[in-house]
Amino acid sequence: MEIEKQLKSHGAWIGKWTFILAASGSAVGLGNIWGFPYKAGTNGGGAFVLIYLGCILVIGLPIMISEIIIGRRAGNSPVNAMRRVAIDSNQSTLWRFVGWSGIFAGVLILSFYSVIAGICLNYIFIAASSSGAISSPDQFSSVISSPLNLLFWHTIFMTLTALIVSAGIKDGIGRMVKILMPMLGVLMIFMVIYAMINGDFSQAMTFLFAPDFSNVTSDTLLQAMGQAFFSLGLGMGSIMAYGAYMSKDQNIVTNSFTVASLDTLVAILAGIAIFPIIFAFSLEPNSGPGLVFVSMLSAFNQMQFGQIIGPLFFILLSVAALSSSISLLEPGVAYMSEEGILSRKRSAQIISFLAWVLGIGSALSFNIWSDYQIIAERNFLDSIEFVTNQILLPLGGMFIAIFVGWFMKKSLITDEMGSINPVLFFLWRFFVKFIAPLSVAYIFYKQFF
Ligand code: PHE
Repeated sequence: MEIEKQLKSHGAWIGKWTFILAASGSAVGLGNIWGFPYKAGTNGGGAFVLIYLGCILVIGLPIMISEIIIGRRAGNSPVNAMRRVAIDSNQSTLWRFVGWSGIFAGVLILSFYSVIAGICLNYIFIAASSSGAISSPDQFSSVISSPLNLLFWHTIFMTLTALIVSAGIKDGIGRMVKILMPMLGVLMIFMVIYAMINGDFSQAMTFLFAPDFSNVTSDTLLQAMGQAFFSLGLGMGSIMAYGAYMSKDQNIVTNSFTVASLDTLVAILAGIAIFPIIFAFSLEPNSGPGLVFVSMLSAFNQMQFGQIIGPLFFILLSVAALSSSISLLEPGVAYMSEEGILSRKRSAQIISFLAWVLGIGSALSFNIWSDYQIIAERNFLDSIEFVTNQILLPLGGMFIAIFVGWFMKKSLITDEMGSINPVLFFLWRFFVKFIAPLSVAYIFYKQFF
């Protein structure tokens, strides 16, 4: 009863599909279409892809289920959700710091996410007017060489994010995601077919799916694991915050399977759409963050109706980014407004402003600060990405797994799980208790000690 009241004041998702749509909206974004292909490219392809898939299954999925369990059980924002569930399990309230680290990570991620998403917005117009006269790599260089240009689009994207979160997450995105995400899916399939016909498909398949483990280092492991956390949107409370709005009759395990599968599917489709073009146009698979922009623009320049399909692609990619960026802002905003510290609108303004300021550093790291290194030969953007994807998210995820596996009261867990096949339950628990935290710890150990 009490929880029902909570949900009412907090706002709950209406309709069976809304949670899946919102959670997939959070998961599917730049991580899948921009991040996954370029990281697979710089890490040599197949082996990275295989390790990435392993991490999704072994670490990501069990942790996703755990995060939703905590979120829905408490019906609060992540800081208070951790606190509440810890109290209900007679554990220390220090567990709330997992929620705090999530808010912190969310702001850091949002700062560079908005810069990249800004580039997507810019490409809507570039693709509409591009005649193919300038080569795509040159085009990308000219886009990122102008600090003012990057800052302009970064500002637009951050403003959009703040506006949607101010409006309240359930009115803000539910409707948008319902139509536009499936459209993105259809367009991705179209691009895959185009790449199959016009690109070097067989070389791309070999690159992506024939693993060569000879060059795998501990760094590859860490990057693949970080990418899995980032892409699923785990380890920082986004999905926990969304879980708080999930109605009790929804099955957490099937929902998690659906979201993780959709997310993985989109990443793989992006890879299959991009690499055939890369090889056919003799572009460099390891060229880094510009990969999706350069390859897709090359394809649109060649294709009939490219000036219509191109902008459409970048519009949908921007929407996918927006449905992720709002979930980065949500844990902090939900906390401040739930505590009555500030209104939802004010919280959204202040937190997004912080992220905007930090984002300036990332925008400049493409041009005037490109030689300015912060952590171990990484520029500003790469350093923030390293700290979040490869440290904070896996660490947050590990603590969530340890909490649910070892400290959360079992009756609370079984309550949330509802009717579930006992073998599946046993398996999940085994993964949450042992496999997921030990895998993260092992990868950290290999890399840092
Ligand atoms: N999953 C999103 C993407 O792939 C980014 C994200 C990370 C969202 C962490 C929420 C939390 O683009």
